[in-house]
Amino acid sequence: MWAGVALFALLAFLPINAVASEGCGEIACDHVEIDLQDKESLQSGAKYFVNYCMGCHSAKYSRWERVATDLEIPEDLMMDNLVLGEDRIGQLMSIAMPAKESKAWFGATPPDLTLVARARSPEWLYTYLRNFYQDDSRPTGVNNKVFDKVAMPHVLMELQGLPVCAPGPAHDEHGHVIRNALGEAVADEECGSLEIGEIKGSMSPAEFDEAVKDLVGFLEYVAEPAAEDRERIGVYVLLFIAVFFVFAYLLNREFWRGIH
Ligand code: HEC
Repeated sequence: MWAGVALFALLAFLPINAVASEGCGEIACDHVEIDLQDKESLQSGAKYFVNYCMGCHSAKYSRWERVATDLEIPEDLMMDNLVLGEDRIGQLMSIAMPAKESKAWFGATPPDLTLVARARSPEWLYTYLRNFYQDDSRPTGVNNKVFDKVAMPHVLMELQGLPVCAPGPAHDEHGHVIRNALGEAVADEECGSLEIGEIKGSMSPAEFDEAVKDLVGFLEYVAEPAAEDRERIGVYVLLFIAVFFVFAYLLNREFWRGIH
């Protein structure tokens, strides 16, 4: 019996990591710590998402109203500042831009972003949004370290400024810095690092990282709005099982009393 209990305990607490980790293109992913309980950060992320992303991307598996409730945004504030155009609060977060035309404009249709944090990962998004750089050979004038030849323009340029290529360490195909026998990074690549060039943004690098973190937090929230509930209920379920186990054990002992 104890072997069974041990196995159950092991299975219950084993972290199940179903999502295969994916690299970040040419470079290693930057780590980001998202706190889904930080409503203020998620609200700020929602604001960036509506203002900078919804010109092209929808989040059409989510409703304005659900976002307002979950992020504790009062309805009038939501209507005045976030809900787009003539939309009513009960509507889905869709956009007016037709997919076929946008493909002709950009060369690729901007995908719906409701589930992108699950399809990619928060780290991928955080790294992607901070690694656009000037590349005059591209139609948009920019390329991206994480998503080579991406059709998306650098929409956060007014905040970040425009990064340009600078010499830096070479990376292998897994995004790890290539080192010599002494463990020193070999700085020999023309575009091994990025630095903000002539076009400056309104934010410092630290402020910009924080803004992108808020935005990625919102994308993670919207990909699974019930994540917080799920975790809370999970704790109750485990507590219930633990308490139930005590009674099951006592009952079991009562049944077998006098037989051994
Ligand atoms: C001007 C239009 C436009 C705006 C605004 C825009 N994007 Fe994009 N985005 C695109 C296009 C086009 C693609 C498709 C790129 C491709 O496939 O080459 C794309 C792709 C993406 C992808 C990659 C999706 C995937 O998994 O392949 C992500 C993530 C993304 N955008 C996030 C954002 C975020 C976050 C914002 C707001 C900060 C934003 N985008 C604003 C046009 C836009």
